[in-house]
Amino acid sequence: MTKQKRILRSQAWFGGDDKNGFIHRSWMKNQGHPDHEFDGRPVIGICNTWSDLTPCNGHFRELAESVKRGVYEAGGFPVEFPVMSLGESNLRPTAMLFRNLASMDVEESIRGNPIDAVVLLTGCDKTTPALLMGAASCDLPTIVVSGGPMLNGNCRGKPIGSGTDVWKFSEDLRAGRMSLGDFKQAESCMSRSTGHCMTMGTASTMACMVEALGVTLPGNAAIPAVDARRKVLAHMSGCRIVEMVHEDLKLSRILTRAAFENAVMVNGAIGGSTNAVVHLLAVAGRVGIEFTLDDWDRLGRDVPCLLNLMPSGQYLMEDFYYAGGLPVVIKDLLDKLHGDALTVTGHSLAHNVADAENFNAEVIFPLAAPFKEQGGIAVLRGNLAPRGAIIKPSAATPALLQHRGRAVVFSSIENYKARIDDPELEIDASSIMVLQNCGPKGYPGMAEVGNMGLPKKLLELGVRDMVRISDARMSGTAFGTVVLHVAPEAAMGGPLALVREGDMIELDVAGRHLHLDVSDAELAQRRAQWSAPVPAMRGGYQHMYMAHVMQADQGVDLDFLVGCRGAAIPRESH
Ligand code: FES
Repeated sequence: MTKQKRILRSQAWFGGDDKNGFIHRSWMKNQGHPDHEFDGRPVIGICNTWSDLTPCNGHFRELAESVKRGVYEAGGFPVEFPVMSLGESNLRPTAMLFRNLASMDVEESIRGNPIDAVVLLTGCDKTTPALLMGAASCDLPTIVVSGGPMLNGNCRGKPIGSGTDVWKFSEDLRAGRMSLGDFKQAESCMSRSTGHCMTMGTASTMACMVEALGVTLPGNAAIPAVDARRKVLAHMSGCRIVEMVHEDLKLSRILTRAAFENAVMVNGAIGGSTNAVVHLLAVAGRVGIEFTLDDWDRLGRDVPCLLNLMPSGQYLMEDFYYAGGLPVVIKDLLDKLHGDALTVTGHSLAHNVADAENFNAEVIFPLAAPFKEQGGIAVLRGNLAPRGAIIKPSAATPALLQHRGRAVVFSSIENYKARIDDPELEIDASSIMVLQNCGPKGYPGMAEVGNMGLPKKLLELGVRDMVRISDARMSGTAFGTVVLHVAPEAAMGGPLALVREGDMIELDVAGRHLHLDVSDAELAQRRAQWSAPVPAMRGGYQHMYMAHVMQADQGVDLDFLVGCRGAAIPRESH
């Protein structure tokens, strides 16, 4: 690659012969940087989400060292900086509440500092969209390096998957099929190496999404966190980002509409998390691309699920890597995809996967004979969800995809917990469980509570799935006939708020329909009596969040963060 000498952005800090140049260089030199590192070479930011409280990203300081080695090797100057880290398993009330806050941290940290490009170290669920959203609003050359999944869980000689088996074990414990001792032993067996959830949950899905978008080197999604090849990928990403500066290959040239369309189709083929819907809508909003829920339905409708991975199937991310990883899926889908979409390699998506080979057809099924016919995310509409709701058919019970049932309504997650195991609760397997006030404003943060556990008395009878409807999200590791992201949400006065115990609801996934069988006149009367719930928490960031958060069909971003603001800084700091 020809390297023409351009005056880079970082030289506005490090290139001057005046007081300000002195200040910018001198303080950096206290870390032992020699003069020649300020000579106009590309300065590469390494945006790190390491935290002891984000265990999925706990190995990122080591990963950053691999990126640095690559940057140095290619003639760049690496500078690592921390941003807010979001640990899905620890953060309360839910990590999603802080995705947009973290994205603001990322955006301002990139724009305000002397860097020419950025490598984003992402892993646990929200860290991937948060970093990509922030970087997209700046539009410097950008590469994502995912932290990689944990090794397969293994308990008593059997593979167990993050999240997916937690939901199963929890229901087995409640139904008396599992002892408390075995339940606790499974904790250590599940999370036995560094890395993020190793099912096709949200972290793995988002790692696949960034690879399908073209913002990672090929093969990024599936390499286990502890595999030495993860470090090699980080090293090579460090090398490549320096070249991208010379080529001025900015993020906006890669995050095109074609890239988003590719990602939606790949999400269908991998049986990806429903959370990808809100995250990709939000990222598209940051680069000014018109991208809607209808695109999700239209593009994913004919894409079958090729991966036999939990929660839709039986294998895990480690198996996916050994089978060939995401390049195999992309290669098989090329007839549907925009294969000419540009990626961070400087080549097209099709070029990147030309040599991909499937080493295990039990894990990655061919498009010609897929694992499941229905892979995409279905978008439902009707009087219960005028602005849409979603369901993941590949994780649902086929017999329940068309269902009419009596509503059992929970007004909050606390109300659900207080009543679900009440022996007097009027509920049977044909009922539809409705959860209100768990959306973007109602929870707040649209928590992953949509896959409500079933009543103990039905579990004991052997019931394994029921239709559930809410304005919440669900973990990408979860499964079931679960309708999510109902918009507008209940706390905004959406029709979900008006559902009452005993109402009949019709779900028709094939017809993309969700209907509350109550007359318009009755609904109007209920609306007149409705009042908004009082927020559980006030002040601070949540004050700003509540005033500006958008609904699920718009990606749950804050309205004033939509769009790309570029990386220009009009003023000096001194
Ligand atoms: Fe971090 Fe699942 S808890 S990826």
